[in-house]
Amino acid sequence: MNIGVDRISFCTSNYFVDLKTLAHARSVDPDKYYVGIGQEKMGIPPPDEDVVTLAASAAYPLMRDGELGDVELLLFATETGIDQSKAAGIYVHGLLDMSPRCRTVELKQACYSGTAALQLAIGFVARNPQKKALVLSSDIARYELGSPGEATQGCGAVAMLVSANPRLVAIEPECGYYTEDVMDFWRPNYRSEALVDGKYSTMVYIHALLESWKQYADQTGRTLADFDRFCYHIPFTKMAEKAHQKLARKLKVEIGKDEMLALLEESLRYSRITGNCYTASMYVGLASLLDTAEEDLTGKRIGLYSYGSGCVGEFFSGVVQPGYREFLYADQHRNLLDNRTELTYQQYEDIYNYGVPTDAGEYVFPQYKTGPFRFSGISQHKREYESLVE
Ligand code: CAA
Repeated sequence: MNIGVDRISFCTSNYFVDLKTLAHARSVDPDKYYVGIGQEKMGIPPPDEDVVTLAASAAYPLMRDGELGDVELLLFATETGIDQSKAAGIYVHGLLDMSPRCRTVELKQACYSGTAALQLAIGFVARNPQKKALVLSSDIARYELGSPGEATQGCGAVAMLVSANPRLVAIEPECGYYTEDVMDFWRPNYRSEALVDGKYSTMVYIHALLESWKQYADQTGRTLADFDRFCYHIPFTKMAEKAHQKLARKLKVEIGKDEMLALLEESLRYSRITGNCYTASMYVGLASLLDTAEEDLTGKRIGLYSYGSGCVGEFFSGVVQPGYREFLYADQHRNLLDNRTELTYQQYEDIYNYGVPTDAGEYVFPQYKTGPFRFSGISQHKREYESLVE
């Protein structure tokens, strides 16, 4: 029985900063961002957007299309946790009016936990083939103003329905994974911005890739020639390109720039203009690949590499299913990305500094967000959400 991704829907903020604007403010050559790290825009969440509204908005089309009826497991992956106790997925469960007969839990391991959620969901479906799981990966990448990481900020969420006989991508059973205790990127509970040892983090990302690949290749006997496309975790698009080059070099495979772009480029299109979405990032890449590839990908094998600092890496693979194009949300994604509002530098800094109140007062947030759900305020430490759909 095949198990895997049956539907995939993505959401990012309605607002973005062009990295030319940031480059000007930081007196940096824009090509450092556009070319050097391969990023053009970063999605910026307004005060009434958080990981709950991003995830609920990503999953909304699934609800609208009646796809959530058989879901009995909701896994919410994030490293932008909003509460030390309550799972963010429970707010989403409420906003989407899902059945109470559902297991809901939040998972954390930096950018990797979306993949942990997907693999756990596959295990659940293997045991309960009539049931489905909803995997939500949702994050807001936030670094200090003026820091090297600033240009790699972004935000977004991906909702994936996981089922038997999936209509999009069957995930193959073999996978290689790797854990090592390192401090390359982390965020203590008392901070709202990540701390990162940037150059070191890129080295650990690649080390974990090589180790994960080794186990995957041992299990499957596959070589790079067995793959038609690759999706990497994308903190910035250049990182994915560099990772693939390093893997090819390690395996003594000659790969030219054009050949590499043919394997990766479609998966990088969305991330180049949303920025890092942490747990959602590789799955934004998967949506980008499926939505924008001109070639029919039916039967093609995709190599997937997920990385979460700290660190855990995993290499696995999936095969695109016949008829997949009929079940994509490509038009909706294009529409979302084409209709965002550009922020000035000052608007960006004002939003950056807004800060969620931490006292027991009553707060109503100004409305920036245009639906379907918004984070409308806080009352006595309780988050309040509003549905904007009729
Ligand atoms: N034109 C073209 N290219 C230029 C340029 C110009 N004018 N100026 C600089 N560049 C190039 C540089 O040569 C460099 O290229 P190479 O990497 O090929 O040498 C590239 O632009 C970046 O320049 P720097 O190395 O000087 O950049 P930096 O040190 O200021 O920042 C970074 C880079 C450290 C990765 C920083 O973006 C960062 O800290 N990012 C956050 C951490 C991160 O994303 N790590 C990735 C792995 S960890 C992970 O994946 C988990 C996660 O999601 C965070």
